[in-house]
Amino acid sequence: MSMKIRFLPDDVTVHAEVGEPILQVAERAGVFIPTGCLMGSCHACEVDIENGETICACITAVPAGIPQLTINLSVDDNW
Ligand code: FES
Repeated sequence: MSMKIRFLPDDVTVHAEVGEPILQVAERAGVFIPTGCLMGSCHACEVDIENGETICACITAVPAGIPQLTINLSVDDNW
């Protein structure tokens, strides 16, 4: 099953498969997500998703059951 992922603030939308790693989708979209440990512990890769939740992109896959997901990379602006 395929869905759309929209990356902000660049406003790039790409198609992604359910279960595909978010980092891989971002790379295909030409969007850069900083990473460190790739194990979910350093939080370098944190991004916001549309309900205000923060996820670690390195350990998160495209979720099932929704047609579109917005990922906001501008987390650092709020610090
Ligand atoms: S790269 Fe360290 S938590 Fe994702």
